[in-house]
Amino acid sequence: MRTDTAPTIYRHDYQPYAYRVKSTRLCFELDENVTTVVSTLDIERTGTTPVPLILNGEHLELISIEVNGSPLSENDYRLDTETLTLFPESTSFSLQITNRCKPIDNSSLMGLYVSGKSLFTQCEAEGFRRITWFPDRPDVMSRFTVTLRADAKRYPLLLSNGNLISQTDLANGRHEAVWEDPHPKPCYLFALVAGDFDCRETRIKTAEGREALLQVYCDKGDLGKTAWALQCLERSVRWDEQRFGLPLDLDRFMIVAARDFNMGAMENKGLNVFNSAYVLADPDTATDASYEAIESVIGHEYFHNWTGNRVTCRDWFQLSLKEGLTVFRDQEFSADMMAASLPEKEAVSARAVKRIDDVVALRTAQFPEDAGPMAHPIRPESYQEIGNFYTATVYEKGAEVIRMQHTLLGEEGFQAGMQTYFRRHDGQAVTCDDFVDAMDTVYRARNPGKDMSVFRRWYSQAGTPRVNVSINHDAANQSCSITLSQRCEPVGVEKRRNPPVEKPPLHIPFALGLLSPEGTPIPLQNGSDTTDTLVLDLTEHTQSWTFKNVPGRPVPSLLRHFSAPVIVEYDYRNDELALLARFDTDPFARWEAGQELATRYLLAQVSENITNNAPELALLVETWQTLASDDTLSAAYLARALVLPSERILLEKCKPADPQAIVAARNALRAELGIALQDIWQSHYQNLSETLNKSSYAPNPLQAGQRALRNCALSYLVTGQPQKYLDLAVKQYEGATNMTERMGSLSTIVHQDSVQTIQKALASFYSRYENNPLVIDRWFALQATAASTDVDTVRSLMTHPAFTMRNPNRARALLFQFCLNNLKGVHSQAGYAFWAEQVLALDAINPEIAARLARAFDNWRRFAPAYRDAIETALKKIQAHPTLSRNVSEIINKALE
Ligand code: PHE
Ligand code: ZN
Repeated sequence: MRTDTAPTIYRHDYQPYAYRVKSTRLCFELDENVTTVVSTLDIERTGTTPVPLILNGEHLELISIEVNGSPLSENDYRLDTETLTLFPESTSFSLQITNRCKPIDNSSLMGLYVSGKSLFTQCEAEGFRRITWFPDRPDVMSRFTVTLRADAKRYPLLLSNGNLISQTDLANGRHEAVWEDPHPKPCYLFALVAGDFDCRETRIKTAEGREALLQVYCDKGDLGKTAWALQCLERSVRWDEQRFGLPLDLDRFMIVAARDFNMGAMENKGLNVFNSAYVLADPDTATDASYEAIESVIGHEYFHNWTGNRVTCRDWFQLSLKEGLTVFRDQEFSADMMAASLPEKEAVSARAVKRIDDVVALRTAQFPEDAGPMAHPIRPESYQEIGNFYTATVYEKGAEVIRMQHTLLGEEGFQAGMQTYFRRHDGQAVTCDDFVDAMDTVYRARNPGKDMSVFRRWYSQAGTPRVNVSINHDAANQSCSITLSQRCEPVGVEKRRNPPVEKPPLHIPFALGLLSPEGTPIPLQNGSDTTDTLVLDLTEHTQSWTFKNVPGRPVPSLLRHFSAPVIVEYDYRNDELALLARFDTDPFARWEAGQELATRYLLAQVSENITNNAPELALLVETWQTLASDDTLSAAYLARALVLPSERILLEKCKPADPQAIVAARNALRAELGIALQDIWQSHYQNLSETLNKSSYAPNPLQAGQRALRNCALSYLVTGQPQKYLDLAVKQYEGATNMTERMGSLSTIVHQDSVQTIQKALASFYSRYENNPLVIDRWFALQATAASTDVDTVRSLMTHPAFTMRNPNRARALLFQFCLNNLKGVHSQAGYAFWAEQVLALDAINPEIAARLARAFDNWRRFAPAYRDAIETALKKIQAHPTLSRNVSEIINKALE
């Protein structure tokens, strides 16, 4: 906690560390109250002249320091709140530090902490310094040997990275385990876990012929919920072997589920620690969406073993080097898994469904970030607190930047670039430039005269570029020219720069198709071939392309499969959007056209929005009807196409932002569509119920899509005519055989206003799942987002015995869900005051979590005046608090700048 302003750290100030740590031996006397750490480092200076040795350490108690076996006295070193400085004369020496830390008092969940009865560590980004003094930076890589000692009854399992070397019983009921990690690593990848767990395991033979043990550890009693996670892990190993040629390089790979965890999961070498929400699943307690999320997070952490661990980051500005790349890899993994489990016809749309979900996530979280006070390039230039830069920009936009390189190079070229990257950098801590250099080597070899110099600007430019499209059709010559112009407005700090920042053009791969006025694809010339989709290389501010043999004025299908993270501007007529929604052969662009039509309609309902292009309701109903009755479309795809754009996505497009009007307009349209298409919803509901009843539950994409569409139909029916259809929802709830059905009906029920039905359903849900924390999180989240929930409801839920701020999942379920996703409930003076109060309360417990909640109204300046003033008051209240963490203060100061 601090009151002064934290220093800003700049990317350009990077200096290599002056020492090497050749080996690290750690010995832990584990105890939840006080743990003692003895750290023995084999150190070597890199330069010729003596320089101070600066080690990071926070919240630690120093016991002793020895150099080459002789104790240092207090005059031999300097101890500050965040560093320990020594003044070594010799070039190489052994340093031994003994210190203590207090796991039980650690509510930040960084460093060594207690969760349930077990001990866990979290070291990324800068948590290792809460365990012992060390050069806590990713470019210092060392070989770790770890000895863990603890009470044998309380902590029968003692885990760390790498291979188990020995296990020994000690005196006083204690025991010891020694682990050795053969791969040098930065300390952020260190982990230990001590506790009493159940374990599910399997032995596999890797493609290289190595025997490996895969294990999933969980709390006692949860073993039945780990089968899916273990399958996902094995599939991840296989996929990385097959698609990237990257083998498992360990004898043993462990995943441990933790109840208390700040993020999704952590890729510690050979010992991944997971938020239990991304491990545990069975049909009765997990939804299809959770099964899918588990697959993707397990893949993600496993893929880090190469992209992150074997090749790591030089400094934290390079975070996207590992995160963007690994998100791209997990997205491809999920898409491949989905496609593989479906018949070929469905496989195409399965990939599109995954793409739609990823783009929706990008637009929900990253686009607003890139337009607000926290806007930063995927490789940030500066930060105060690195914990604040685990952002949608670094992760999701970072993945889009990798995906564009994949598009430019093609699968084969991209894989060649990956091989080059590993050949050059295996075992090193490198930069984003090193990655692009590897890709560029392949790109230049394959595209004589071209290079990726313009493309690289994606790494240094913040803001979502806009691509304006204009079309010129020459009827006489039957030719059509397309002009693309790009621009990127100043964002965040750039807005205050004088002179204004120059934003040079980016290299944007822009996928384009043309449809005839009747909706048939027009073949486009591509060299000597023709194609439906052409990827244009936009590298300048404005460029034009001319296409021949285009008889009528075409309808363009733009940015197919979302080929770049940009906003497209083109003045479609409404009937052209309707045509695309019906006929576009690119499933992503087809989905997009329907969504755009609905967005236009909804924004026009918000009075202050100036619109002259709103479609008639009839056109929207007709389009939804056509989509809903198109039996060539998969259920999963339909479930995306028929859902209206979310409140948050609409809010982002609404100028000025008027949350209450958005909520009202969206609900009204849902009701209209519910009534107008009643017959279609009913028949989908019936047919899908029959189909699903024929087979038992499996978390596969086919069934998941059917359940999603069935829930979507139910929700339209109930929203349209609650009196008539609420019973159907209740019936589904009571007869549900899995959590997806149960949650689908329950969320529909709680959004209505029949208090008795709601209370009855919620009570039955609670008593059924009382002992399952992950399901009780759902129970809180559902109420947090229910239409009737206001600040008073949330306050009273906070007094429920099951509520606690100390468990991040619980805080996210109630507080975050309310503040971020209940626009109706939170957007009021009382809502903002409540938010400010909770940010402060959380900050005293866990700054990382508090800082995330603190971002809820980042874009407050975009709001209509009444909202804006009230949010500003709340922001200032937080800012005025005497003891803000560095995390929260960076966020709030930037928001108010
Ligand atoms: N490196 C983790 C991941 O993306 C995320 C993480 C960051 C987890 C910081 C914990 C703390 O896989
Ligand atoms: Zn990651």
